Amino acid sequence: MASNVRPDTMERITTPELAEKFIEEQLAALRAQIGDRRVLLALSGGVDSSVVAALLIKAVGKQLVCVHVNHGLLRKGEPEQVVEVFRNQMDANLIYVDAVDRFLDKLAGVADPEAKRKIIGKEFIDVFAEEAQKLDGIEFLAQGTIYPDILESGPVKSHHNVGGLPAELHFELVEPIKLLFKDEVRVVGKTLGLPDGMVYRQPFPGPGLGVRCVGAITRDRLEAVRESDAILREEFKNAGLEGKVWQYFTIVPDFKSTGVRDDRRTYEWPVVIRAVNTRDAMTATVEEIPYELLKKITVRITREVKGVNRVLYDLTPKPSGTIEWE
Ligand code: XMP
Repeated sequence: MASNVRPDTMERITTPELAEKFIEEQLAALRAQIGDRRVLLALSGGVDSSVVAALLIKAVGKQLVCVHVNHGLLRKGEPEQVVEVFRNQMDANLIYVDAVDRFLDKLAGVADPEAKRKIIGKEFIDVFAEEAQKLDGIEFLAQGTIYPDILESGPVKSHHNVGGLPAELHFELVEPIKLLFKDEVRVVGKTLGLPDGMVYRQPFPGPGLGVRCVGAITRDRLEAVRESDAILREEFKNAGLEGKVWQYFTIVPDFKSTGVRDDRRTYEWPVVIRAVNTRDAMTATVEEIPYELLKKITVRITREVKGVNRVLYDLTPKPSGTIEWE
């Protein structure tokens, strides 16, 4: 297996030409490693696993089997985009697993943040392992490990990547981007022809919207998180802020307050807007969203999102707040 240490001489991939060179080298290495055998990949649709999928599709075509687990905690439109890009456009072997009910049933009534994370992580591995066991003749497991994962070492990765290697599955690992930094992965992804929405996607936690639907997840409150997040992303994009702000998303806490709509009292949830900038996620500052934009987002969310009557703006840097609310 190739070394886990990035050589000092390795050039930083900053241009399409350098990305082309990297891609050519990797295609040759992947074909040499895999031969005519089969590879399995958990494809979340995040930039890392998507770039690995695109490389493997080029290298070994249908010998790659991608498994996309929809755990119900993805952002609006994400599962559909994975199917559209990989199955319809790239003609990949893609198994789409609708595990929404399974995850939400397991999470019902669970309010503790760490317990929620554990359930999501374990369930993900179980679903993935079940799919893997249905397949014959798989010898390799591809992973979107990148260099910061290696630098940060084991415990961080297991916390941060829900799709970590299932211990019960004994495959040889295929990790074609493990010596790359995130910005390099994006240049490679763009050069491979992945859509901008995938390549320049903001970081998204493995447990997904589950950590933004605070406390015990209910389907209706989860929909409020998903719909308000979609509105926020759309308005940031329209305002030219996409790709300029590190992370921006909404949270729906587990409490209600009184409001009024069409001359009637309402008793509904608030939506919290969080938008932060950071270099390494260890500390973060709050993005100063223009007031006009905040007003527009507030009007849209309170009009369009079911069960919501207020919008709040989280002004807390990290520390004292973490980026996520759980
Ligand atoms: P916090 O909330 O700790 O987040 O300030 C720092 C960064 O890590 C992301 N994050 C996670 N990513 N699994 C992940 O894959 C997780 O459980 C998780 N928790 C937080 C968060 O979105 C932010 O970018």
